[in-house]
Order: sequence, then structure tokens, then C-alpha cells
Amino acid sequence: MRRFVSITVSLLLLALLLVSAVGCSSTENNASKSPAEDQIKIGIVQIVEHPSLNTIRESFVSQLAEKGYRDGENVFIDYQNAQNDQTNLKTICQKFSNNGYDMIVAIATPSAQAAVGETKEIPIVFSACTDPVGSGLVDSLEKPGGNVTGTSDAISAEQIMELALRITPDIKTIGALYNSGETNSISVINDLKEFAAKNGLTVIEATVTNSSEVQQATASLADKADAIFSPIDNTVASAMPVVSQVANQAKIPVYVGADSMVKDGGLATCGINYVELGQETANIAVQILEGQKPGDIPVKTMRDMEIYLNKTTAEAIGITIPEDILNEAAQIFE
Ligand code: TRP
Repeated sequence: MRRFVSITVSLLLLALLLVSAVGCSSTENNASKSPAEDQIKIGIVQIVEHPSLNTIRESFVSQLAEKGYRDGENVFIDYQNAQNDQTNLKTICQKFSNNGYDMIVAIATPSAQAAVGETKEIPIVFSACTDPVGSGLVDSLEKPGGNVTGTSDAISAEQIMELALRITPDIKTIGALYNSGETNSISVINDLKEFAAKNGLTVIEATVTNSSEVQQATASLADKADAIFSPIDNTVASAMPVVSQVANQAKIPVYVGADSMVKDGGLATCGINYVELGQETANIAVQILEGQKPGDIPVKTMRDMEIYLNKTTAEAIGITIPEDILNEAAQIFE
């Protein structure tokens, strides 16, 4: 009997040891991923991986640190990327909301729409949303109301087209390439159509729903158009090398909405500085962390547009960019 008891006790002890060992190792695995009580918890949700969105995120995090909110110290940043998948976006935002994070930072329009659909309480700071009103994120730019505000990378299709006509004056038919599900692209495409109508140009469209369709869509436009125009579209941006390969072969210029799309092979844009936009997003986040209501902070738009050019692309399609435009450019990618 005594022996039986001692075996039972030993077994129990062993079981306890095992349970506590497993318990230990599981907290250890999560240690780097779970916030401490006194840390400010910020969830960053990014729709997809492309250079521009990465620039925004990195610039946001470093400006936040500059203002005294340092990741891993007084702040816990949980960064999640949705790989351009709507279901992932929803799951990520739900998790942020269920975990009771102090703030959600949503990079690009689809992320912001998912975040807004998930919580009416947690402050949401969106970043680089081209058309925040048209995308249903806020009621007005001046007074957003509710728990949402942020930064916009609104651009002017007219300015880009004026630049396009200075570089390639003979273009008559413009091929519009974009994801029809991205509300950030729609408003720019509408402006493009308005500009075309006023200036005797024709717009033809090729829309995609994901990046695997981009090659085919570009090829169809390259057949019919004198130039391709893509707005600040996340789907096209993540397949930009393919776009430029197809367009270069057909020797037609690609005018785009963002500097990173020029860096990735587009010919030119007149666009905003995304490092600054990331910093402005962080400045808004700090205002909220220090007590202001998101709904009272106007959406920040960037006024200064700069010219970005790609010299390698110009050479590949046999175009000489006029000297005065080269001199005006903020950056020339080789
Ligand atoms: N403006 C885009 C949106 O509203 C996001 C974005 C920022 C973007 N920088 C970009 C898209 C560069 C394409 C290329 O969703």
C-alpha cells in the first residue's frame, strides 16, 4: 500500500513537472509577442507587401520613436501583413480589437476599411488612403468624427497627365490599369477620364482583381494604347516589375501614381513623398496617445508634389526625357 502511494505521488509529481515545463516553454515562445501590462499596444495592419507601404511603415515606427514612443520599450507594436487577402484583413483586425489594443494603424485603403468595419471604439489611424471620403472611412477630411482619422496620399491625375504630355506629346489613347475593387484607385481614374474628355484623349480600361491578372491586362493595353496609366493601386504596385517588362517590350510609357512604382520600372509620376507621409501618420498617432480624440483631428493631405523619373525605362523604350523635366525631378531612378 505504502509503495502504491509513493508510486502514485511520484507519478503525480512527474505529471506536475511536465505540465509546468510545457507551460513554461509556451510562455517563453510567446514572450517576444505578448505585450507587458504597462506598454501601449499598437496593431499595424498592412494590406500587402510592396516597397511604398514598407517605407510608410518604417517611417511611421521611427517617427513614433523620435517622439518618445519606442517599440519594445514603452510601446508594443504588433505588425501584421494580410498578403492582399480580404479574409486575412478581417481576421487581423478582429484580433487587434479582441486583444483590446490601444490603437490600430491601418496602412492603405483596404486595411483601413477592414479596421473601420471591426471597431467603433479603438482609435484607428489610417495611412496613405487616397480617397478617405469616397472610400467610406470618414465623413469629411476637416472633421472626421468617430474613432477614425489619418493621412491621405491624394494625387492629381491631371498633374500626372500634364507631365505625361510633356514627355510624350503624341499620346492619344491612354490605357487605364487598376484593380476595380480598390476604391483608392476609382477616384483617380474618374479624374483621368475627366482630363481625357477635356483634352481630346481616349481612355480604355483593363481592370484586375488580383496581381496574377496584371500581366495579361498590361499586354491587352499595350496592344491598343499609346501609354498606360496606373493610379496608386496596391495590386498593380505589387506586380510593377511585370507591368514594366510587358510595357518595355511593347515600347510604351507607363505613367503611375507613386514614386515606388517609378522605381520598379514605371516611366514617371508627379507624386508625394511617402517618408513624410509616414511621419505625419506618426504625428497624428502621438496626438491621440496624448489625449486628443481621433474624430477631432483633420485628415492630413500632402500638398507638395514632386516629379520622379526612371532613366533606364526611358532608354528601354527609346524616349528622351526633356532636359527641363530632368532638372525639375526630385529623384531620377537608374
Ligand atoms: N494609396 C493607396 C491606398 O489608398 C496605398 C498606397 C500608398 C499605395 N503608397 C502606394 C499604392 C504606392 C500603390 C503604390 O490604398
